[in-house]
Amino acid sequence: MAAGTVSVPSRVLLLSLAFLAAAGTAAALSTKYYDKRCPALQPTVRFAVARAVAADTNAGAAVLRLFFHDCFVNGCDASVLLDDGAAPGEKGAGPNANSLRGYEVIDAAKAAVEAACPGAVSCADVLALAARDAVSLLGGPSWNVRLGRRDARAASRDAANANLPGPGSGLPALVAAFRAKGLSARDMTALSGAHTVGRARCATFRARASAGAAGGGEAINGTFAAELREACGGADGALVPLDAVTPDAFDNGYFRGLVERRGLLHSDQELFSGGSQDTLVRRYARDGAAFAADFAKAMVRMGNLAPAPGTPLEVRVSCRRPN
Ligand code: HEM
Repeated sequence: MAAGTVSVPSRVLLLSLAFLAAAGTAAALSTKYYDKRCPALQPTVRFAVARAVAADTNAGAAVLRLFFHDCFVNGCDASVLLDDGAAPGEKGAGPNANSLRGYEVIDAAKAAVEAACPGAVSCADVLALAARDAVSLLGGPSWNVRLGRRDARAASRDAANANLPGPGSGLPALVAAFRAKGLSARDMTALSGAHTVGRARCATFRARASAGAAGGGEAINGTFAAELREACGGADGALVPLDAVTPDAFDNGYFRGLVERRGLLHSDQELFSGGSQDTLVRRYARDGAAFAADFAKAMVRMGNLAPAPGTPLEVRVSCRRPN
């Protein structure tokens, strides 16, 4: 072939590469992305997360939830970490306001990474690694994190309100919310197992606890409902473990609780309520290793959610604001 000419298959390849670069799609992610750019990355993030979890066990749960709330809103682009700017950010959205936490854990991890490798590593990748480390530090599985994400320059409060399922959701709505992201019902059930750690405010399950008292069609263990009413009293902000069985261990206690109708949120118990996920919930309740394996795979799939093609992206220096 003459110099300067490009064969038809090469042209197709070049066009595909150009498209992928413009779209910033997940196809570009690689476990080796920072091997040369920032070899210290993974131990640096793990150290920061370990320090936070040692100071406050719930920090691990907080970071894990941050990753979910990032990826479900315009892809895993760290948009959830942006403080309000010209437009209202995601931090103030209904599912996040006075609820989402752990931002300072990611700030600390990112600061340590910036010190080691200035301007090289995106906040979205720091968050993806921190979520993996949080799970393994709490006793859960580990997995290889694909890297190379870039950060959004803007956040969308409307998208956060529209994309994150609420605690009153029924099973069909939960399945639909995950299907809309290309995730299966099985992924949804496995990922919901994240509620094996962390806490929820009484406001998010008060209706379920009261319906339990009234015998109002809510699948809830009566003793458990009474315990919840006692724990909450009149305080909407009081915090109760999502997994009553083993609150701070990343294990299958959440699923064992569901089988006993001790799910905290209505949306939790919907996974074991005579519907399509009952068999899987029973399996995870019996077999912690099966849950751990499915959870790790589903986290990788959730972590592949990419921003829409054409979204302006960058590697932010501060996770709280665009460069
Ligand atoms: C299936 C749909 C889901 C719903 C409806 C849901 C809803 C909720 C709600 C209402 C809370 C308590 C918030 C508060 O009281 O302030 C919560 C906490 C939490 N969620 Fe979910 N969630 C879902 C899926 C997920 C997924 C997929 C993950 C991660 C992979 C996750 C991780 C967490 C964690 C770790 C907490 C505890 C956070 C903390 O203690 O700071 N959730 N979730």
